[in-house]
Amino acid sequence: MSSKGNGTEEKTGLGEFSEIDPKARVIELRSAIQRANFAYYMMDSPELTDADFDAAMAELKAIEASFPGLDDPESPTHKVGGGISPLFSSVTHLSPMMSLDNVFDQSELLRWIGRLDRSLEVAGSSGSAELFFELKIDGLAVSLLYKNGILERAATRGDGLVGEDVTMNVMTIKVIPKVLKGRGDGKTVPEILEVRGELYMPISAFDALNRDRQEKGQGRFANPRNAAAGSLRQKDPKVTATRGLSFWCYQLGECIGGPNFETHHQTLEYLKEMGFPVNEVAQRVKSQGEIEALVAHYEEHRHDLDYDIDGAVIKLDDLSLREKIGSTARAPRWAIAYKFPPQERTTKLVDILVSIGKSGKATPYAVLEPVFVGGSTVQMATLHNQDQVAIKDVRPGDVVVVRKAGDVIPEVIGAVSIERGPDSLPWDFPKLCPECGTPFVRPEGESDTYCPNFDCPAQVLQRIVHFAARGCMRIEGLGEKRVAQLIKADLVSTPADLYSLDREELLKLPNTKEKMADSLIAQITASKERPISKVILGLSIKHVGESAASLIADRYGTLSAALDANVAELSQIDGVGEAIAGSFVQYVQSNWGRTQIERLIAAGVGRSVSAVVGTTALAGRSYVVTGTISDMTREEVESRLKEHGAKVTSSVSSATTALIAGLAPGASKVTKAQKLGVVILTEEDLRALLAK
Ligand code: IVH
Repeated sequence: MSSKGNGTEEKTGLGEFSEIDPKARVIELRSAIQRANFAYYMMDSPELTDADFDAAMAELKAIEASFPGLDDPESPTHKVGGGISPLFSSVTHLSPMMSLDNVFDQSELLRWIGRLDRSLEVAGSSGSAELFFELKIDGLAVSLLYKNGILERAATRGDGLVGEDVTMNVMTIKVIPKVLKGRGDGKTVPEILEVRGELYMPISAFDALNRDRQEKGQGRFANPRNAAAGSLRQKDPKVTATRGLSFWCYQLGECIGGPNFETHHQTLEYLKEMGFPVNEVAQRVKSQGEIEALVAHYEEHRHDLDYDIDGAVIKLDDLSLREKIGSTARAPRWAIAYKFPPQERTTKLVDILVSIGKSGKATPYAVLEPVFVGGSTVQMATLHNQDQVAIKDVRPGDVVVVRKAGDVIPEVIGAVSIERGPDSLPWDFPKLCPECGTPFVRPEGESDTYCPNFDCPAQVLQRIVHFAARGCMRIEGLGEKRVAQLIKADLVSTPADLYSLDREELLKLPNTKEKMADSLIAQITASKERPISKVILGLSIKHVGESAASLIADRYGTLSAALDANVAELSQIDGVGEAIAGSFVQYVQSNWGRTQIERLIAAGVGRSVSAVVGTTALAGRSYVVTGTISDMTREEVESRLKEHGAKVTSSVSSATTALIAGLAPGASKVTKAQKLGVVILTEEDLRALLAK
């Protein structure tokens, strides 16, 4: 089966259509699509990824077109796929809630625009159509019905004709107006107003919810769409209320006793006036070139947004022309979804291995058959911890769903259970550390498992790699391979050993030229100027992350002073809890930890005055970064701002000091900054800030 999208031909979880009898294949595809629809809409847990689902639909459509005798009005290709859960009563929509047809690249989009122009010509309209561009929000469609300005009923899409009554749950969603604002001095509202839009969970709310669930040992939601669907379709609306759901309105339905509209953009303006959130990216477009540029921009910058989008929607703006060209049973002819490359794909889980981190934490990870997802080829993905593997019940040999959204590390969502063989067994966490053979321990009440051997070779390696990493001492050229080489040659076994490295000894190592050795020594020397917060972070002290390291550095000012820290003093720092304080004090009072710090001090690490000043120059300021900054990764820009004491957040608000806009900045962030009067800084301004 050829999976559409992005020019990559890949297998899907449904096998391949080759020599199979078309009738048998149609039955197979219809049944898989129906099952997937049930899992997606009723169980809020997808059985096929969107990409596999789209590919199965495309294949089924192609067979039905080639063999008209196999076509059937009951086929899922002619239906909108939802259902009604017995938890909710059913609601008949005032008019059908349709789905959208898809295109997957620019040439398909151009063909669709050509077809649209021809249909309009046939319908008697001349010239090319005025189009409207919107983001395709990845949530779930809902219909809201207002009588005399008051929210009376909310329903899910269901099968398009009949949906689920979710009124009580929707009442808890803050951004959805319960009473319409009305127009003009008389605050006029229509007698009946039905609006449609996408209910979604912001990514920030999704991350917080999953963190909370993971801490409680509950299963994580696979993606924001599932989390939104699961949160809306709760028996108890109080649960929905806690989930931070949001809504973008994209369509006016029935409007009785209100104004007459000629265009879609007029309807959206009106809906904004009535109090509905309308996405700020929605806009009229003048040319195909403009659509191409917008699609390309949002495909690249989709992760700058605090909500998932899975594409763009291009719509005909003129409402009377929409009427003229009408719809098929499933989708309107006047709109098309341009689907972005998938963030989720299925692939085979080859094995589950365990990696040992700098503090001995044993993290299970999946070895995967390489799969192109979220813009890169993924071969490994974290499985977090023992409980998460058990909750997900993924097993070597399974076909699994892999998700990679933007810079986020790839994750295995779960197994495609229909693919599992009868003798597959649950995976067992190993009893012994694979690196040193020491029995693993799992402290009571913790979800993580550890190798307790401080001298475990994996821990020794990772402690030095972490110390040298960009976010800590920023010693370029000291990756895993080079550190392993230094350890093997007996030149280092702890971070402090790096400062005694000798050029001549380095030159004796295989593949080591003078330039390399000189550069490494120069990098190590330069690292002595790093702020002490980075030194503390680099020491791999359990529980001491970026924020705790900065707070401790600010409190003590020097490494020598930090050596005398005690629990009572540390616990008084806002943001340093007992666990952090206890762990830090245990480290500085241990022989090993104290010696490390004393050796670092003796080597001249963390003594530079500028290092200490650097931590506070931007204190109290809050920045948002958008677009590309030349020569610096986003992570680097953020970490350098934080080094100067600034806060970096993902969305612009009135608390934002400035928006730093690099090349191709996110339009929504720039618009929001302009709206709120937040200063917009250029790349040069950023460099000046960091030079403070
Ligand atoms: S218009 C009849 N606009 O995509 C056309 N849909 O795959 C109604 N969606 O069911 C849909 N963002 O849930 C439209 N800006 C947008 C959208 C959007 C997301 C969803 C909607 C629809 C699904 C079709």
